[in-house]
Amino acid sequence: MTVRVAILLSGGGSNMVALLDSMTGDHPARPALVLSNRADAGGLQKAAARGVATEVVDHRPFGEDRASFEDALHQRIMEHSPDIICLAGFMRVLTGGFVARWQGRMINIHPSLLPKYRGLHTHARALDAGDVEAGCTVHEVTAALDDGPILGQARVPIKSGDSADMLAARVLKAEHQLYPAVLRRFADGNRTPIYLS
Ligand code: GRF
Repeated sequence: MTVRVAILLSGGGSNMVALLDSMTGDHPARPALVLSNRADAGGLQKAAARGVATEVVDHRPFGEDRASFEDALHQRIMEHSPDIICLAGFMRVLTGGFVARWQGRMINIHPSLLPKYRGLHTHARALDAGDVEAGCTVHEVTAALDDGPILGQARVPIKSGDSADMLAARVLKAEHQLYPAVLRRFADGNRTPIYLS
């Protein structure tokens, strides 16, 4: 049985493209949906150009009412009957209620070597700390931010003279290797972490 994947994003969607491009041949999964909370997210056009269904659920009309936003999000997602959700630069914090509905079936990529640097500005924080390496993590999503069982990590060196943008670009390349590798295993039911370097 083919595993159906929904990808949620808010931005350009380079990780989403890496995931879509990976789901071919004998891959156990196929894309079912790319959804954004922003109608102007660049990733939507890239998905549509690849023949993948797209949806927008704007969070703004819901104001502070996260529960109603997440109900609308869940409903729209369910119209496409996905088995797995991949968060790929989805810039809304999801509450425990939404996470519980997808527990064990929702994964996220974060641009740091978790548990280091949860939250934002990960690259600047790694540079400020004088770290000699950085990287990215794919993890199962739980109610705690950027937490949950680690499914894979990729490491990159930090080079002298790196700016946050230079480091971000190096990490992003690693993200494009790691996320498809983890999704393939996850879709097969394999949650053993993989470590790329
Ligand atoms: C990536 O760095 C990802 O780790 C973070 O948001 C960024 C999304 O980039 N969660 P893109 O939209 O996939 O290019």
